[in-house]
Amino acid sequence: MVKQSAPEQLIPKRLSRATPMGLVAASRFPLGDRKTMANGIRALDADIVLGSLAPVAYKPVKVCGVELKLEPLSPALGTVVHGIDLDRDLGQAKMVQFLRELWLERRVIMFRDQQHLTRDGLIQFAECFGELGAHHGERDHIPSGLQTPEGYPDVLPIQSGEKHPGAASEWHSDATWSSRPPMGSVLICREAPPIGGDTNFCDGYGLWEGVRDETKERIQGLKAIHVGQPHHAMDGRLPMATHPVARTHPETGKTVLFVNRVFTRRFAKEHGMDEAVTQSLLQELFANIGRPEITCRFRWGPGSVAMWDNRAVQHCATADFWPHRRLMERVTILDSDVERRTPYLAD
Ligand SMILES: [Fe+2]
Repeated sequence: MVKQSAPEQLIPKRLSRATPMGLVAASRFPLGDRKTMANGIRALDADIVLGSLAPVAYKPVKVCGVELKLEPLSPALGTVVHGIDLDRDLGQAKMVQFLRELWLERRVIMFRDQQHLTRDGLIQFAECFGELGAHHGERDHIPSGLQTPEGYPDVLPIQSGEKHPGAASEWHSDATWSSRPPMGSVLICREAPPIGGDTNFCDGYGLWEGVRDETKERIQGLKAIHVGQPHHAMDGRLPMATHPVARTHPETGKTVLFVNRVFTRRFAKEHGMDEAVTQSLLQELFANIGRPEITCRFRWGPGSVAMWDNRAVQHCATADFWPHRRLMERVTILDSDVERRTPYLAD
């Protein structure tokens, strides 16, 4: 019988400095092999994280008899809703409506200490706002290599740890390679690193406002092609979709710049742009993505939940937490109004 090598033996001895995760690790503890670095960083973190406290500014509101505290994360976007139990307090339509309006206004809303929320609870929460999607939104494209928890085919586990470092650390909106990308995504943290691994959100309206007037004119009516990554392939086929570069948000009516560095590759053939023009325009459109003034940053703890509007924000993880574990679960939400799922630019 041929003895198969354990997966651990395939793990490289050194962490690649070419990744953000690797460069942060190397800058913090440059010496030794992977294991030595991991132990060194753990010792550093044990020394710098001994307790927790944070100054918090908030606005109190009472909704359906529940006292909430709304903590803005930045002027531009992001609000943490304190004082709510997502398992218990969403029974009333008025509470759901309140959260939806807050979500539309602030693009992303977060909650803390929801450890008790089971996968069923997470799904029920998502279904308050639309139709439950598959891991990447629509059910017509399910990546072949995907592994989901037993009994929960729509829950996408996102895991990272010492042996498998990784995080979606480039700015993107979820599954824009789909012709009908998910309206929203909900992420719950099951296990958080002691420090690091924050998720950042960038305001799509702010990105549009940052485009120069002459470029705005040029890109009105322009369409871009979004291509999935190899791990999104289904039966060897990479997913691909064409979307307007300027997108009208179907609920707020505002315009969003709808291109991202991960999936947007080029412009539609009909525009006849050569490679040099394409790259120059893409770089111009990408330039403001991640500017601190139009972003907010959310620190995760066990049971933290974030729900973001994929039509209005881009997001990325901060890949700075190796060798710690970071375990997340994500579900997506599709707009209940099927007509609104395909991105469009209104006249
Ligand atoms: Fe994502």
